[in-house]
Amino acid sequence: MRSILEYDTVALDDENSALVIIDQTLLPGEIKLLHLTEQSAIWEAIQTLRVRGAPAIGVAAAIGLYLAVKPSAAETAEAFLDELHAAADYLNSARPTAVNLAWALKRMETAARRRADDTVPALKEVLHRECLAIWEEDIDVCRRLGENGLTLVKPGDGLLTHCNAGQLATVRYGTATAPMYLGHQRGYGFHVYCDETRPLLQGARLTSFELSSAGIDTTLICDNMAPSLMKRGAIQAVFVGCDRVAANGDAANKIGTLGVAIAAKRFGIPFYVVAPLSTIDLATPTGGEIVIEERSGDEIREMWYEKPMAPAGVKTWNPAFDVTDNDLITAIVTEWCVARPPYTESLKEMFQKKEAAQP
Ligand code: MRU
Repeated sequence: MRSILEYDTVALDDENSALVIIDQTLLPGEIKLLHLTEQSAIWEAIQTLRVRGAPAIGVAAAIGLYLAVKPSAAETAEAFLDELHAAADYLNSARPTAVNLAWALKRMETAARRRADDTVPALKEVLHRECLAIWEEDIDVCRRLGENGLTLVKPGDGLLTHCNAGQLATVRYGTATAPMYLGHQRGYGFHVYCDETRPLLQGARLTSFELSSAGIDTTLICDNMAPSLMKRGAIQAVFVGCDRVAANGDAANKIGTLGVAIAAKRFGIPFYVVAPLSTIDLATPTGGEIVIEERSGDEIREMWYEKPMAPAGVKTWNPAFDVTDNDLITAIVTEWCVARPPYTESLKEMFQKKEAAQP
């Protein structure tokens, strides 16, 4: 049987005009590829977390947007760009917190608008190339995140991660897991602990699945066990992904991340947020302005269990993300560098350096 790591999390099947994803709601029990051709099906797949994780959502949306306008019969570039904008708005409404969704759609639109004098077929080709470029860059970026993250740890370390910022959240390698995969290849012998991540169990269903499939020493824990593990000295560093980093370094990630960061601080353990530049949003000044997705209470009351685990109709509060304050974050690992506090300066500087390096 093929390992989960041999599948692309997200891909374009251009011949059949389909977005191909692994249906992550079925993992780890079943590996099923979905070929999505309708915009409503792509929107639904993002909204229900069939494809999830900030970078993967961005790549899926870029491919989805290309597919939305591929059959367009627009006769002028202007009409085509209007259709493109409406399709981007629709996909962007699927989930609010991960900035990669808006980032990828904006990048696609910008690429087309730059060529607004071209013919409609030429604009379609621009969008085709751009979504493939976003796909390819995601792989390269994750590799570089791995290299930069690996400078922060040593062989034999115990590492903790929360949710799934792994291969299943990107095209390959993951963000928070990239140093783990790379270290594993280089014989670091890490011990990786995965929080199960209530309520949707991304840590249990996805992270522990993909890391153990790679042969990494993986231990699954319930979310509330992390502080005890830290107290016992089993964790030397925490690596998490994120959905949006504000200009001041506050970072939104899966609900529960804040508690892990507070515990890490209590026990003097470095807490690293691993984020591609596409997840850093300088237009959002602080975490207070990040929109936090709230999801159905049924995810807490009954999902994943044979019988409901709570009385029917009990009130719930189910935010999908929380914001970790910048003073709890030891460093933000990007594909460019390891950014240190104060983040308002270090993040801005990093973008300036990147701009300056661009041909
Ligand atoms: O609700 P999800 O599963 O999309 O949440 C995913 C996370 O919180 C990840 O940690 C984050 O998107 C980073 S993925 C590299």
